[in-house]
Amino acid sequence: MKEIGGYFELELSYGEEYHKSALRLNTGRNAFEYILRAKCYKKVFLPFYTCDSVLEPINKCGLEYEFYKIDNSFRPIFDFETMRAQEVFVYTNYFGIFDNNVLDATKRARNIIIDDAQAFYAKPLPGIDTFYSPRKFFGIPDGAYLYTNAGIHYELETDVSYERFEHLLGRIDKRGDEFYSAFKNNEKVLGNQPLKKMSNITQRMLSGIDYKFAAEKRKQNFRYLHEALHKTNQLPLELDNSFVPMVYPYLTENAEELKRKLINRKIYVATYWPNVIDWTKPESFEYYLVANLIAVPIDQRYRVEDMNEVINIIKN
Ligand SMILES: Cc1ncc(COP(=O)(O)O)c(C=O)c1O
Repeated sequence: MKEIGGYFELELSYGEEYHKSALRLNTGRNAFEYILRAKCYKKVFLPFYTCDSVLEPINKCGLEYEFYKIDNSFRPIFDFETMRAQEVFVYTNYFGIFDNNVLDATKRARNIIIDDAQAFYAKPLPGIDTFYSPRKFFGIPDGAYLYTNAGIHYELETDVSYERFEHLLGRIDKRGDEFYSAFKNNEKVLGNQPLKKMSNITQRMLSGIDYKFAAEKRKQNFRYLHEALHKTNQLPLELDNSFVPMVYPYLTENAEELKRKLINRKIYVATYWPNVIDWTKPESFEYYLVANLIAVPIDQRYRVEDMNEVINIIKN
């Protein structure tokens, strides 16, 4: 029975989700698990350069897996001819700027899953299993979107996330550094969760976002940084106006000191992904990326003045 009247719930905007026709699930890794189960895959080919959370569903389903390398344009180095029927190839749209590599891989792999955790705005290609982790782009506690034609034959519970808001609320009232441990704790809590539907509150929050504004800001900030830094950035980035990036990837030798300077100035740059150090050899491109790629924040919270602060530190 619908409740009518009484006290108000948290007031959120009434709008539309960006991925209206996708399945709504609780985490990106669980969206990945959904496809693995629905398609009954037996073996997964994964990039070395990825987040270790993607191993969680593979291990949960007891599947075999093998890593592949990428070249310095983030293209897979892989012999697609060797793939068999129940094997699947996973490609990650790194930083949300490699749609071309996605397209190319989908043409070559007999079975493929696109990991768009870093590419919220990238539309799925027709018939291609694609998942998203929207909290990498927006202030929400959890959630995932999935496009697939396959289904699993049991009812999923709906996730409940009202207890996962401490870091999101705290950062508005106070400061990000005071709630960093609460953020880390939430990330930990999201590990090993059962596959569920997205919570009502996460869906409501995702219905109230100004997606156009956020996309424009991200693109503007990215272009602004690239204009200033492309000469020293070791990554040859090709920009397309349709891409909406997650971060600006700046690759430089000896990034350790620069990272320290940025973090001292409270410019928080994430490391993608520390686990890769344990999986690869020091002479590999992937290892070099973990050590030397600076993921500069360019999101909807920031303006040109903020980008100038970053540029000044990098250029000095
Ligand atoms: C590339 C990539 N794929 C998948 C995931 C998993 O997403 P989630 O944390 O929502 O499970 C992450 C992050 O954790 C990621 O960085």
